[in-house]
Amino acid sequence: MGFKNIIERFSINYAHNTMQKSLYNGLNIDILDKKYVKTPRENTEYMLYAHVPFCHTFCPYCSFHKYHYEQELAKIYFENLREEMRQIKEAGFDFSSLYVGGGTTLINEPELEKTLKLAKDLFSIEDISAESDPNHISPESLSRFDGLIDRLSVGVQSFDNETLKRVGRYEKFGSAEETKRKLEQTLGKIPVISLDLIFNLPNQTKEQLINDINVAKSISPQQITFYPLMKS
Ligand SMILES: C[S@@+](CC[C@H](N)C(=O)[O-])C[C@H]1O[C@@H](n2cnc3c(N)ncnc32)[C@H](O)[C@@H]1O
Ligand code: SF4
Repeated sequence: MGFKNIIERFSINYAHNTMQKSLYNGLNIDILDKKYVKTPRENTEYMLYAHVPFCHTFCPYCSFHKYHYEQELAKIYFENLREEMRQIKEAGFDFSSLYVGGGTTLINEPELEKTLKLAKDLFSIEDISAESDPNHISPESLSRFDGLIDRLSVGVQSFDNETLKRVGRYEKFGSAEETKRKLEQTLGKIPVISLDLIFNLPNQTKEQLINDINVAKSISPQQITFYPLMKS
């Protein structure tokens, strides 16, 4: 292993362990002891965003709000989320769409299912979008969300194995070839499948980016999104 690879590996492990430590106990779960005070403005359409801030492990580039997954903690968090939905319903809000972002939104499928069903019961929601990683898109997992999730955006980041290794995703989510196979099985299980990829990653070449675009297009998802790497 070259010196550069050792430094890269060290940096990834350092970032991972540091985030793991600092986020492990940082989640304040007692967020709903106050009465909800906001009220809706007249003639304003609102969209509902729900955040699922849990991951099993962290990716070094990721700028999103997240904590290390613990089943009991996540259960309490989802209960709070549902309670907050009831409070905002009571305050007079209504929503036509719901976006569930992460973190890893499908990390606790029964809790997510309960939460989405409640959102549909409480509000006039016509479409639900959610994010996922390649480990939570098996046909068995997705069948649970049949008729509930309308759009699923799956984090791929790159179809280049060296890039995946550099951002610590190869071991966690599988090779580019495995991800491509999983994605092909997912098509048709949810009305809209969107692939999320990142460009401008360190050491990424133009050829790798063009290959990412071509592989993504060859899968023929309904949507492909490329994000420039955002520094956090
Ligand atoms: C919040 S993540 C959730 C996706 C899911 N947990 C996963 O790992 O695939 C949603 C998407 O945001 C993008 N993203 C995350 N951090 C980013 C960053 N620093 N710069 C650009 N895009 C980023 C990635 O494409 C990622 O798939
Ligand atoms: S990219 Fe996804 S799995 Fe990785 S840390 Fe961010 S939210 Fe978690």
